[in-house]
Amino acid sequence: MSLTKADFGPEFKWGVSTAAYQIEGAADIHGKGPSIWDEFVKKPGKIFQKQHARVACDFYNLYKEDISLIKDLNIPNHRFSISWSRILPEGTGRVNRKGIDFYNRVIDHSLELGIEPWVTLYHWDLPQALQEEGGWTNRNVIQWFTNYVEVCIKYFGDRVKHWIILNEPMVFTGAGYFFGVHAPGKKGLRNFLAAVHHAALSQAEGGRVVRQLHSTANIGTTFSCSHIEPYRSVRKDIIAAGKADVLLNRLFIEPLLGMGYPVEELKILRRIEQFVRQGDEQKLSFDMDFIGIQNYTRELVTHSSFMPFVKARIVKANKRNVETTLMNWEVYPESMYHILKKFGSYKNINQLIVTENGAAFRDTIIQGEIDDFARVRFLRENINQLLRAKKEGVNVNGYFIWTLLDNFEWAEGYYPKFGLVHVNFDTQQRIVKSSGKWYRDFLSVKE
Ligand code: BGC
Repeated sequence: MSLTKADFGPEFKWGVSTAAYQIEGAADIHGKGPSIWDEFVKKPGKIFQKQHARVACDFYNLYKEDISLIKDLNIPNHRFSISWSRILPEGTGRVNRKGIDFYNRVIDHSLELGIEPWVTLYHWDLPQALQEEGGWTNRNVIQWFTNYVEVCIKYFGDRVKHWIILNEPMVFTGAGYFFGVHAPGKKGLRNFLAAVHHAALSQAEGGRVVRQLHSTANIGTTFSCSHIEPYRSVRKDIIAAGKADVLLNRLFIEPLLGMGYPVEELKILRRIEQFVRQGDEQKLSFDMDFIGIQNYTRELVTHSSFMPFVKARIVKANKRNVETTLMNWEVYPESMYHILKKFGSYKNINQLIVTENGAAFRDTIIQGEIDDFARVRFLRENINQLLRAKKEGVNVNGYFIWTLLDNFEWAEGYYPKFGLVHVNFDTQQRIVKSSGKWYRDFLSVKE
């Protein structure tokens, strides 16, 4: 079946997503304060080959060229994030004028080229000064965050219409405050549950602040989500899969929709009550204009008595003899269909937008060209699965590829490459891969 842009209708939003810490570099110039990731990369054993993002793709200096590349690829929407500590070096209080100027230049240049900016307010780089006060485990983070949101709307709200409150709260609380594998490297259930509750409150409060200060804004927030299946069709695995689903897919969306935390299926979550204050239940919900779906794969889950609290464990893709990406994620495009059907079945969701989807594969440069056919196939099949869900009535109105440039992939460093565009990190030279050209041609079809 051949796939064309026209199948999705003229209102469908096609885009590409990036994140400040992964591409900007310029970690400590022009008054930027340190973020938790600037500190975390210094800790031994945390990042693949001790890599860091002090320079990354140097987007801070090369933003004009990179935005022009987006234009050359016919991509009409660019989702990028603001580095909180670039504009508020201490996290709160003093505004760094040079940081504001940088994002003004990015926004203005995008608009000049006809590219619509979609701003993510928080893509994991909390100011280090706030982490020293406990970061997401400190309830004051709600106040710090909403002040920061006010600053962003004040300076950029006149030109930016689309606002995304948080990027994947489950990942930054789980990896950052339970497993300690992402910044700030904290561990344990108590840290995790405190961070979860404060992030869940911040996502709703952030939405309210944007709506109040910018009445015509298009407001959303994003969730990491994976289609989950039991490893074997036995009762124990089915129960385990249900618990994994609570944690990976339901924990943040349900309170946002006014359903409260899904404690029934995962009793341990009851312990979150120690952080809940009177009136919080209402404060957790907010009517987002859209929900951002970020899907990469499916997970198969089995019962495990060794796993504390959940008694469930993911069976890694490399143990299952299936095709995988460099992240050891199964290539399984049907996951996109199932997850859209799942989220599409919640009441009270206005619309869904796929705000991230993509794949890391090994790229080889042959005579200056990168023919990443596996990525092209991955993207095409995922878009096909999106269309399948859309045709069955799911209200999904956008698709953003992760990501424009090969970049700093958090704890994995520069090894997994997700970009439509290759970056030579010695010379900062860019090469558009076949996937970038494929997306460009796909998007060039007139309605
Ligand atoms: C994140 C990105 C990340 C991507 C691939 C998402 O979890 O939002 O920052 O690079 O997945 O791992």
